Amino acid sequence: MLKNTCLAICSLVIVLASVSITAPQDQSPDPQLGKNSVKEVVAAMTLEEKVKLLVGMGFNVDIPGLPPIEEEDRRTPEKVVGAAGRTHAIPRLNIPSLTLSDGPAGVRIDPKRSGDNYKTYYATGFPIATLLASSWDTEIARRVGAAMGSEVRDYGIDILLAPALNIHRNPLGGRNFEYYSEDPIVAGKMTAAFVRGIQSNGVGTSIKHFAVNNQEFNRMQSNSVVGERALREIYLKGFEIAVKESQPWTVMSSYNLINGTYASQTGELLTTLLRGEWGFKGFVMSDWFGGDDAVAQIRAGNDMLMPGFVAQSQAILKAISDGTLSTKQLDTSVERVLNIVLQSPTFKHFNYSNAPDLKSNAQVVRETAAEGMVLLKNDDNTLPIAPTKVSLFGNASYELIAGGTGSGDVNKKYVVSLDQGMLAGGFSIDESLRQTYKEFIADQKAKRPKGRPFMPLPAISEMSIGSDRLEQLASNSNIAVLTLGRTSGEFEDRQVENDFTLTTIERNLIDNISNAFHAKGKKIVVVLNVAGPIEIASWRTKVDAILLAWQPGQEGGYSITDVVSGKVNPSGKLATTFPVSYNDVPSAKTFPGKELVGVKPYIDNPFAGKPAEAVYDEGIYVGYRYYDTFGVKPAYEFGYGLSYTTFSISNMKLSNNRFESPLAISVTVENTGKVPGKEVVQLYISAPTNRLKKPRNELKAFAKTKLLKPGESQTINFELNAKDVASFDPASSSWIADAGTYSLNVGSSSADIKASRKIELSKEAVVERSQKLLSPPPSLKEIEPPK
Ligand code: BGC
Repeated sequence: MLKNTCLAICSLVIVLASVSITAPQDQSPDPQLGKNSVKEVVAAMTLEEKVKLLVGMGFNVDIPGLPPIEEEDRRTPEKVVGAAGRTHAIPRLNIPSLTLSDGPAGVRIDPKRSGDNYKTYYATGFPIATLLASSWDTEIARRVGAAMGSEVRDYGIDILLAPALNIHRNPLGGRNFEYYSEDPIVAGKMTAAFVRGIQSNGVGTSIKHFAVNNQEFNRMQSNSVVGERALREIYLKGFEIAVKESQPWTVMSSYNLINGTYASQTGELLTTLLRGEWGFKGFVMSDWFGGDDAVAQIRAGNDMLMPGFVAQSQAILKAISDGTLSTKQLDTSVERVLNIVLQSPTFKHFNYSNAPDLKSNAQVVRETAAEGMVLLKNDDNTLPIAPTKVSLFGNASYELIAGGTGSGDVNKKYVVSLDQGMLAGGFSIDESLRQTYKEFIADQKAKRPKGRPFMPLPAISEMSIGSDRLEQLASNSNIAVLTLGRTSGEFEDRQVENDFTLTTIERNLIDNISNAFHAKGKKIVVVLNVAGPIEIASWRTKVDAILLAWQPGQEGGYSITDVVSGKVNPSGKLATTFPVSYNDVPSAKTFPGKELVGVKPYIDNPFAGKPAEAVYDEGIYVGYRYYDTFGVKPAYEFGYGLSYTTFSISNMKLSNNRFESPLAISVTVENTGKVPGKEVVQLYISAPTNRLKKPRNELKAFAKTKLLKPGESQTINFELNAKDVASFDPASSSWIADAGTYSLNVGSSSADIKASRKIELSKEAVVERSQKLLSPPPSLKEIEPPK
């Protein structure tokens, strides 16, 4: 190992020595970024400096098992301690080092700095992306983005490594909590709004992970085998929307391979499509240690290699010297990076405060989290409940799970638990039960095995409670609230047993609490503190109400109480389907993929896993596109969510009967119930199937009303153009609107359509031509919808 490292360093010295001979010999004063044009600065850079700029800087320590970093990087102190990465400064040309930090639920940096005993650097823990998507309100995403971006700015960071928008292909995806939805329109629109919010602070974003990175299993060596139509319509569509509508400063390429080539090494993805077709203007960075060929990455348009290591610099220098990489290719990447450097707060010498407004951002968390909670069940108006005495069950009631683990986690100062939230909201909590839980949790935590580095700690199992105690609790309190928690995170996917499904203790708890409280004429409410779907169908009849609170961020206890008490009327809807059973999931058999036996690892480090393959044979039939088309009834469908009031959607009008110019659609939403509330209006189309098969229903647009008082109504307007209703035809590599009858369906969920109109397209329309890109192997066979 030592010998190899020496070999590596020695050869770098030789290459660098030969490089300095060819460096520009100009004696005139150095051009300065900002004063001179980017082209002039690039022209003045030595080859070594160019490579330095493109090969990034991570933490200033070597991570055991990962390739060694430059000696100089080890010595360079971090500007923001705990930030995920940096770029190199080149002071002679006035190029500063940028700081990059995770992540999707808030700024992830170290809260304490050595030698700095008086100040802390906590950041706000915002709700997870899946919750934000369930608000179906792009203004909520923008508002959270703006608040998060203010912390990026105030902590002296230039680029936030967020948002993340991979599709929820399967409920077990370990990082689904960082992602928005199973639907690309929801994911794309939310991302665009979020990016606009963050970037309104003068800082940048990195939309990730581009693309088709839907499982954690062997994530650095897994090949996603996927058809061209599914790519364009499902896995790339959200990125297309985000790029076109918000111009993120950067894009992060994903770890996986797509149809045999690493995403970070695919010019078809990073250049032809991203820049050529979609008009992306920023730079692309790799995911941390992603890919196996630095030169192929630069060639493909992956401009920045993060976090950068010695061997990558060597490889690029060698490729330039032997002509396998052209200086022009290198310069293009350098220019892209410098154009972003120019916009950065660091370049502009922004005087950051290191004191973000954590108080006002906490308020943003409290309010926005409540907007994304989904009321799944509410028999006989169980909820809302006025302050009363509650028996609060479940570990997560006392240790609320604010968000997921890994780079999507945030070092926040505190998390408001549900008992705290309810007490503050005027409820009283059975104190003896509370004490028992606190002792149980402390005891279990002490016994818990030490976690593996970077991995979530093993969950604490629930506590069994005897029938006498339950009977007593049911006598002494007026309602039972049981919180069920799930955590997940980077590096690992979730499991079916005891994760998607309930554990035996959880089932028993539901049965026993339900029996004890129902026997006394009292109700049981279940709060789901989860990041993604769990099995509900088998136990839901035993409880009176179910509130899906997701992982709501650091103020969670307050936000849940706001909804439970009726201070906030729930208006969230599912942006991801809750299936009846795991076997109903279209990718149940192919997720998370298989290891490729006998294939030599492409990357060799302890985090890289093994070569693997995930075959996306469900094609475009992901989530509700599958359930609807194949007639599989879910537990709770896409777009579903209850309210404490009721709404009507009527008076559907179309501006004309064509998709050109564009087509304007309006409906009237009225609050027909007794309390103020907001409704999410969803526009689906059922398209004709002349040339291509289609999902039965596809979301095309959505909007949320303002808070409508009882009896109040609002007109909601949508616009559709031909591209919105077109499908991607792999045979002609073009977006085609089929001839025939389109049914436009407006509803309050994918299954609850309230108004429909039809439009005829007399002739097929080729809306946009593309080219053959990212072709799958001929062996890929996708499922076919029933005739
Ligand atoms: C994750 C990225 C993250 C990066 C830097 C990687 O492991 O996949 O999402 O931005 O680390 O922390």
